[in-house]
Amino acid sequence: MLKKKIALIGSGNIGSTLALLCAQKNMGDIIMFDVFQGVARGKSLDLNQTLNFINNGTKIIGTSDYKDIADADVCLVTAGFPRKPGMSRDDLLLKNLEVIKSVAQGIKTYAPNAFVIIVTNPLDVMVYAFLKLSGFNANKVIGMAGVLDSARFKTFLSWELGISSNDIHAFVLGGHGDEMVPLKRFTTVGGISLVELISMGLLDEDKLDKIINRTRRGGGEIVNLLGNGSAYYAPAFSAITMANSFLNNEKRLLACACFLQGEYNVNGLFIGVPAIIGINGVEKILELKLLKDERQKFHQSILSVQNVVNTVDKLI
Ligand code: APR
Repeated sequence: MLKKKIALIGSGNIGSTLALLCAQKNMGDIIMFDVFQGVARGKSLDLNQTLNFINNGTKIIGTSDYKDIADADVCLVTAGFPRKPGMSRDDLLLKNLEVIKSVAQGIKTYAPNAFVIIVTNPLDVMVYAFLKLSGFNANKVIGMAGVLDSARFKTFLSWELGISSNDIHAFVLGGHGDEMVPLKRFTTVGGISLVELISMGLLDEDKLDKIINRTRRGGGEIVNLLGNGSAYYAPAFSAITMANSFLNNEKRLLACACFLQGEYNVNGLFIGVPAIIGINGVEKILELKLLKDERQKFHQSILSVQNVVNTVDKLI
């Protein structure tokens, strides 16, 4: 079988973790791109030496020449700058918009058929800017947020309940900001919804609210602890889950930032929704029937994404 080609645009903390995971999982050959050639080449050299311990024939190169990503099957975009303490994701907007402009140009020119997963923050608007600037089809561009936010929700629930996170399925919808919507009704533990767990007395409503708030601020909590940089292990695993669903046609149903064209009464925005990811990219978006309260929170989250998109529209 022909080896897949995976382009990592940005070779910082998330990019290099992605490279290690791709190599360990034998996902294909890896191109590490970075605007700083030394970063891409230095990290790829270190990883090439690491391959001695993996021995699966993976090839890794580091570059700052977009020609090297030619015909990549999938591009994972982490190029940009991470948050500093006290910075919101939106503070990053102007800096990272410039980065996405050059990334869109590079990918459009050299890997026009790739499936593109954007990780750079502020996520919902960076993925929007990429779509507009690249002219790609909406099914080939997706943002990584819901998988990560759901993983954070699962972690906190697992700690509270004392139940393995293997048995927890969580859904966090909406934008990747503090207004994201962790959904109690659609989050299940061994098939039992959180609403049911509360009525069984296994979970306390107040504690659940605290967990939901912690999930919403999950990224910021890590930014504050690190003091310099933002989370990278869980973001990398989340993006790899999405990439593998595409590369292996796994048809995973994942919470992803998808371009909505009428679904959920939203037109022209990337919002976190459940989607099936397969060889054709985003193959289907599932429309959940939300209750009034859920709809209001979802709407709130959409409004905050729309506000930033309005600014981006003026800038691009
Ligand atoms: N083109 C390519 N790479 C770039 C560009 C550019 N125009 N601008 C910056 N980079 C590179 C940097 O040189 C750096 O190596 O992007 C990399 C970013 O790596 P880190 O600073 O370590 O950031 P990381 O933790 O990987 O996060 C990247 O993902 O989750 C988001 O908020 C996070 O926006 C941030 C992004």
